[in-house]
Amino acid sequence: MLVLGLQGSPRKKGNTAFLLSTFLKEAENLGAVTHTIDVCSRNIKPCMEYTTCEKTGFCPIKDDMDPEIYSMLRQAEIIVTATPIFFYSTPAQLKALIDRSQTLWARKYRLKLTDPGRKWRQGFLLSLGATRGKNLFEGLHLTMKYFYDAVGASYVGSLTYRHIENQGDMEKHPTVLDDIKAEAEKLIGPLMSRKKVLFACRENACRSQMASAFAQYQAGNRMDVLSAGSSPAEQINPTMVETMQEKGIDMAFRKTKHLDDLLNTVTPDIIITMGCGEACPFIPGVKRQDWDLPDPAGQSIEMMRKVRDEIEKRVIKLIDELS
Ligand SMILES: Cc1cc2nc3c(=O)[nH]c(=O)nc-3n(C[C@H](O)[C@H](O)[C@H](O)COP(=O)(O)O)c2cc1C
Repeated sequence: MLVLGLQGSPRKKGNTAFLLSTFLKEAENLGAVTHTIDVCSRNIKPCMEYTTCEKTGFCPIKDDMDPEIYSMLRQAEIIVTATPIFFYSTPAQLKALIDRSQTLWARKYRLKLTDPGRKWRQGFLLSLGATRGKNLFEGLHLTMKYFYDAVGASYVGSLTYRHIENQGDMEKHPTVLDDIKAEAEKLIGPLMSRKKVLFACRENACRSQMASAFAQYQAGNRMDVLSAGSSPAEQINPTMVETMQEKGIDMAFRKTKHLDDLLNTVTPDIIITMGCGEACPFIPGVKRQDWDLPDPAGQSIEMMRKVRDEIEKRVIKLIDELS
């Protein structure tokens, strides 16, 4: 359960950084894994309106967006954007990241692909500004609504503070710690009691990726879905991506993961193994089901489709059993 923080202020120890790090600490206390992107220190170029993404689904600009930031945006279950107000909007560096999410917008609205995470991903805003103006956050709320829609998330809430100007002002705010604790618990608390289902195969490039995508798509946020491999490939299988695309499911920017790395951070409730044999872990107290499915890697596209459809059926049955 990943909570991704986007730190949008150029000040590394400023008010925004304090708000975000406090929120993420609460998330960790509740059991979530967190990751922060310090937007202003990353190489993120502005959108040049090439519109290539509307045709191919990929941005031709080479920088930290692709694959890293697009991939993190898709892995996260909760995205927390933290930003100071600059001229009633965000600093330019964060705005560049927001504009570049047009690639994800294009995959959804132009290419009509469904990111399996979009049913459950949530977006939250932390923001502050120096003045007391009534409309201080109006523009930002609209930007956030459409940014979160583009990255496949629902804009579920915000904490905003006025009259915060100098470094250190935010820490002195009388209610900020309680506000953050309450919002983090509201957002993250209910998700921590979900069943954790791990789909594991050898390379984490085909079968376990398809199973996890179908489970995310079908179960929404009723399950914490994980996938990994005992000997992960460098990247996911392009034929698998193509066959999932035939079903309208968007696998772009997904990465492979090593089972050991995953099991260092989380203990699943159930492991579904698909052909990793002896290398698949036995964890005392954790239920295990073995799905005897052939490895479609390197085989015909028909074989990939057959395995895909079988996995989809089994995932639907599994969700039914678990709920
Ligand atoms: C370029 C720039 C533009 C700003 N524009 C606004 C603004 O429109 N309204 C406002 O209330 N504060 C504005 N501020 C003030 C910042 O929002 C404020 O100082 C904030 O506390 C900075 O947060 P940080 O410490 O996280 O960087 C602006 C500051 C800068 C540097």
